[in-house]
Amino acid sequence: MDNWISRLVPVYVLCLSVIFRSASADEGFLSISCCADSDYTDQSTGLIYTSDYTLFSDRTSCRHITKPVINYTSYDRARAFHIDKGKRCFNLSTVKDQVYLLRGRFLIDESSREPLDSPFKVSIGVTLLGVVEPQDLEIEGVFRATKNYIDFCLVKDEGDPYISQLELRLLPEEYLLGLNSSVLKLISRSNLGNGSRGEIRYPDDKSDRIWKNTSTPSAVPLSFLDAYISNPSANVNGTPPLQVLKTAVTHPDRLQFTHDDLENGVFEYRLILYFLELNDTLKAGQRMFDIYVNNEIKKKGFDIKAEGSNYKHTVLNATANGSLNLTLIKASGSESGPLCNAYEIFQVRPRAEETNQTDLEVILGVRETLLLQNQANQVLESWSGDPCIPFPWQGVGCESLSGSYVITQLDLSSSNLKGPIPLSVTELTNLKILNLSHNNFNGSIPQFPHSSMLTSVDLSHNDFIGLLPDSITKLPSLQSLYFGCNPGLSQENPSIMNSSLKTDYGRCKSKGSRFPQQEIIISTVTCALFLISLGIGALFFCRYREKLKPSDGFGSKRHAMTTSIADIIFSLTSKDDFLKNSACIQTYTLEYIEAATESYKTLIGEGGFGSVYRGVLQDGTEVAVKVRSATSTQGTREFDNELKLLSEIRHENLVPLLGYCRENEQQILVYPFMSNGSLQDRLYGEPAKRKVLDWPTRLSVALGAARGLTHLHTFEGRTVIHRDIKSSNILLDHSMCAKVADFGFSKYAPQEGDSVASLEVRGTAGYLDPEYYTTQQLSAKSDVYSFGVVLLEIVSGREPINIRRPRNQWSLVEWAKPYIRESKIDEIVDPGIKGGYHAEAMWRVVEVAYQCIELPSAHRPSMSDIVRELEDALIIENNASEYMRSIDSLGGSNRYSIVIEQRVPPSTPSTTESNIMNKSLSLPQPR
Ligand SMILES: *[C@@H]1O[C@H](CO)[C@@H](O)[C@H](O)[C@H]1NC(C)=O
Ligand SMILES: *[C@@H]1O[C@H](CO)[C@@H](O)[C@H](O)[C@H]1NC(C)=O
Ligand SMILES: *[C@@H]1O[C@H](CO)[C@@H](O)[C@H](O)[C@H]1NC(C)=O
Ligand SMILES: *[C@@H]1O[C@H](CO)[C@@H](O)[C@H](O)[C@H]1NC(C)=O
Ligand SMILES: *[C@@H]1O[C@H](CO)[C@@H](O)[C@H](O)[C@H]1NC(C)=O
Ligand SMILES: *[C@@H]1O[C@H](CO)[C@@H](O)[C@H](O)[C@H]1NC(C)=O
Repeated sequence: MDNWISRLVPVYVLCLSVIFRSASADEGFLSISCCADSDYTDQSTGLIYTSDYTLFSDRTSCRHITKPVINYTSYDRARAFHIDKGKRCFNLSTVKDQVYLLRGRFLIDESSREPLDSPFKVSIGVTLLGVVEPQDLEIEGVFRATKNYIDFCLVKDEGDPYISQLELRLLPEEYLLGLNSSVLKLISRSNLGNGSRGEIRYPDDKSDRIWKNTSTPSAVPLSFLDAYISNPSANVNGTPPLQVLKTAVTHPDRLQFTHDDLENGVFEYRLILYFLELNDTLKAGQRMFDIYVNNEIKKKGFDIKAEGSNYKHTVLNATANGSLNLTLIKASGSESGPLCNAYEIFQVRPRAEETNQTDLEVILGVRETLLLQNQANQVLESWSGDPCIPFPWQGVGCESLSGSYVITQLDLSSSNLKGPIPLSVTELTNLKILNLSHNNFNGSIPQFPHSSMLTSVDLSHNDFIGLLPDSITKLPSLQSLYFGCNPGLSQENPSIMNSSLKTDYGRCKSKGSRFPQQEIIISTVTCALFLISLGIGALFFCRYREKLKPSDGFGSKRHAMTTSIADIIFSLTSKDDFLKNSACIQTYTLEYIEAATESYKTLIGEGGFGSVYRGVLQDGTEVAVKVRSATSTQGTREFDNELKLLSEIRHENLVPLLGYCRENEQQILVYPFMSNGSLQDRLYGEPAKRKVLDWPTRLSVALGAARGLTHLHTFEGRTVIHRDIKSSNILLDHSMCAKVADFGFSKYAPQEGDSVASLEVRGTAGYLDPEYYTTQQLSAKSDVYSFGVVLLEIVSGREPINIRRPRNQWSLVEWAKPYIRESKIDEIVDPGIKGGYHAEAMWRVVEVAYQCIELPSAHRPSMSDIVRELEDALIIENNASEYMRSIDSLGGSNRYSIVIEQRVPPSTPSTTESNIMNKSLSLPQPR
């Protein structure tokens, strides 16, 4: 034996080095472990894995895997992307024109499967590689780099995507020979005849391919001598390692390998078969066999030793639909049966076309420029991978133009963006729609080239300065142009010659508002009214609660209290900045929670989620601790949902999340304690029996809750639907500031193309929108319906459903409707507030409530319409002239008068303004 081995090795090595370019150890390798605390060396391979924090800094999306669904031991963390749609991509650097293997691993914890138990998709660059089902552990693709990076993207499908490890490895060219416009998806990489010994990878395989054992019951395994491997020069990059080649299977007549779990549909496959003759005594012509794929002959009389060497491999193409049979049959005249050492099967996926290179570079530049001024902006953070495919970026619209995608729409409205507009926006030559409205963009408006295809430009509600350039007003295709509500923009009338151009001529008309100037003035008015009616400290706390770090305790609160009133008024207007900066959620240990609640001593409530306990944090903050019970109807999905929404969405009228604990399968959320309980308690619960809630307070609670909901509905340009609005979910803090709670069921509104069927109908009887219930079509207007019911509760002091009342009064809505239709408001008003309200204000509230519950959803008011109505009602209820005087005495008049001067064009007398001035009603008593 020894003799022929020494003969074989030189031939073998020579042969391999001709075929495969040799490379040094782990050159071209990139290994990423998601959520790893630091870089580390993997014990079994000796490869260095780096963390992904430079790509994704968010630690709340990290999961510890304690009980993997399938036994798998190498790594125990995963990153789960809770995204509503779209994709998240890992940008990995590559060398152009090199061929790579890219492998993703998807480990998942049995206990945290939900909401990770549904499939998602994976793409290499823009080419979809396949679907990852919960039972899939790995996906591997082979591609040729076309630039200095590759995106590995996880695409939201039915499920939230997750990933634990990513491995990029340089591969021999040959894999893609003749398939340059394709990406390969690995179906199988089989090491034959290896018995039950483990899988083989790096360092044995210099390309870190993972060779798995495949058993073929009818075949006889052959094994080669170990002595052979001790020759280091024999292990050459490219071929399977000798550990793989030294074993094989053989059979006197035929070998058959069946893969019948392939994707349905006709696909191209590439098979690579590896042969090393293991029987020294055989000569050329003694072992010959025919190779069939799906009963079609691919090679006739294949002879490993035909050219005198012992090694051969062969690449086969095949077409298959669902199943693939590889069969090796002894050729006629051959002495020995077929032999096979290893094989690989790939599905050939045609490469998808990327977005037009010019547009791609421009939009990447736009993102980069925007990021300079807008770090941690959620819209920009979601801009990952290719702007158009497999799923366009949020706010980006694309069209296919001669085979590749171009960007035709850029809608960044209401995205909390600031800083100048990136000049490169003007280089998007196919852009038709540009909407930058409702942001804080500043600087001057750039010049657009005459060749621009823009048809619609909206720059309104920003802080642009200077002149509106003629280059925009004269754009040839322009059909609409809005630039109002930019206080710093020159009032000089631009030369708008195109008479059919839809425009606001720079005037500040807010969308959907009946009175153009009302919105701004009224919000200032109500801010001030809140100030007076609730007390300055209370208001301050309400607005700034989240800003005060618990550890700062009273010290910082006192300090903040001394801030001048003018500052407060000013700050109220720059709410957005505050909202952006307040996301700081703590992670608590179970031990800490147990200490804080004195081992769950005081139960303060119970809901679908579980129990709520009162507690005190170490720094003295009073908290409500929501503990998920084993029998909870709300599952992990709701927990994650609430965690995700609350960590992103903050508003003074939404209950903030202080922190959470996820330990030993316990899921706990910690909120500030709301000392005045829920609106429900106050309206008809125990506390209501002691002291009736007066009408002005009811009104301000309704307004607060409506503002909170408006914020949800307009969050980052994406509507978030609460789905469980009810009076018991509107909580009242110590200053009676309303805060909407319980986001467990909340959802992003479905967008075009979303599957609606996956949304189960959720809500509470009595509040549930009948239209949503029957059509299962979820929209923000379902919340509006529920809010209408809450308004009726506020007016009537009655429960939405009470079967202890006479039959015709069981349902609040059905009982109240006829009275409202007949304008008999007095019949439905809570007897407890009789005589304590202004009829006009009451009528406004009832009217808007009626619109919410009576109209088909499309005709119901939006939450912002409701806010305006309630603001009107509150102004009517309170005394506007009192307000003007007090604002003056508080020193806030400067800000106010600036607002008036800038927003009201002298030509149009503001009826609203004079209306407010002329109101002479009473002011609510401070509580
Ligand atoms: C996982 O490992 C445990 C212990 O090693 C074993 O009892 C169990 O059968 C394994 N489960 C699977 C699915 O392999
Ligand atoms: C496999 O298919 C590719 C592309 O169709 C072709 O270029 C190549 O020559 C084929 N290889 C074999 C062995 O048939
Ligand atoms: C090798 O081939 C010879 C001749 O065909 C045969 O007699 C012998 O059994 C084979 N050895 C093995 C290990 O299969
Ligand atoms: C593959 O082989 C099996 C068993 O011989 C057979 O039942 C099946 O039809 C074959 N499939 C194809 C596509 O030839
Ligand atoms: C991208 O689009 C522009 C204009 O639409 C065109 O001139 C250019 O050739 C395209 N680039 C590529 C790489 O297709
Ligand atoms: C990926 O990273 C490279 C290098 O850092 C960068 O040039 C490229 O623009 C990035 N690609 C995307 C799509 O972000």
